[in-house]
Amino acid sequence: MKNEILILPGDGIGPEVINEAVKVIQLLKKKKLINSVIRYAKIGGNAIEKVGLPLPTDTLKAAKSSRAILLGAVGGKKWDNIKDFKKRPEYGLLKLRKSLKFFANLRNTIFYPQLLSSSIKSEILSNVNIMIVRELSQGIYFGKPRGVVYNEYFLRYGFNSSNLDEKAIRRIGIIAFELAKKRKKQLCSVDKANVIEVSMLWRKIITELSNSYPDVRVTHLYIDNAAMQLILSPNIFDVIVTGNMFGDILSDEAANLTGSIGMLPSASINSIGQGLFEPCHGSAPDIANKGVANPIATILSVSMMLHYSLQKPLLSKFLNVAIINVLKKGFRTADINYTGKNLVSTKEMGNLIIEEFEKLI
Ligand code: IPM
Ligand code: MG
Repeated sequence: MKNEILILPGDGIGPEVINEAVKVIQLLKKKKLINSVIRYAKIGGNAIEKVGLPLPTDTLKAAKSSRAILLGAVGGKKWDNIKDFKKRPEYGLLKLRKSLKFFANLRNTIFYPQLLSSSIKSEILSNVNIMIVRELSQGIYFGKPRGVVYNEYFLRYGFNSSNLDEKAIRRIGIIAFELAKKRKKQLCSVDKANVIEVSMLWRKIITELSNSYPDVRVTHLYIDNAAMQLILSPNIFDVIVTGNMFGDILSDEAANLTGSIGMLPSASINSIGQGLFEPCHGSAPDIANKGVANPIATILSVSMMLHYSLQKPLLSKFLNVAIINVLKKGFRTADINYTGKNLVSTKEMGNLIIEEFEKLI
């Protein structure tokens, strides 16, 4: 593994938010606080345009040898009608996650009091800090068989398989229990064990694991109830552990609960210490190239990179503080601007954060 950070800007707003996040990395390099080499490569729709594949061989090769990868977003209207799944931009991201065996995806939703926002009452939101631990390597995203065919009645028939082995469930369970141990010692496992066999196995293994973590309080919720509780009483959650698809859905919900999906970063880790860091939002083609996207989720992804990959927890904290300071001063990108005041562009938000960060390091 080389001491390299691979930057994959991707599509839509990806390049814009990545630009701001790269400024943070460059500042740290300039100050000699990190010494990683930065490289760029293509992924998603723009890679399809260039070489006909959403994850070009060169990109995969560079990713395999990097310590950390920072990714913007993939996808867009232009490629929405491609039928072959393997030729779609999203496949590039899924193949990257699969090939580097990123099995754990951490998505931390935090309530920022500065962003008193949503339709939900502030009392139930204060102190919300939820770490969603999403299994990333198996489940319905990758299960085979999959496809769309004509059946014997000449009707189009679509099918996917949701499969998970016990090793994968235990592996993600351990990550979640260990995180819970360091936090409020509460773990909520989310499944659909009243209907789906895979979920029944999931619940059994998480229950077995809980015997090794007597200090962590474990609860189990069905996905429908979990989605409702997240809105009704987000405060009851500390760490949530769940499968690939449920984690995808719950993390979007959790993000919007506390502000905007433009504020939610993620870290995916594998067992050899590599990390893939990406905002949870998509490529948002409708607002691409307008300079209005929120770069905070991507900058927070750099913070996760500093913490989980580059072993610089203090710099990670300072970066989080810099973001909070900018929010305290009232600056807002459009997605979190509820008053119409102090509206800033993607670039301006990036520069404000850099300015604050530079004061702290
Ligand atoms: C996410 C995204 C991806 C996913 C898409 C782009 C494949 O929604 O990271 O949450 O579903 O994992
Ligand atoms: Mg998603």
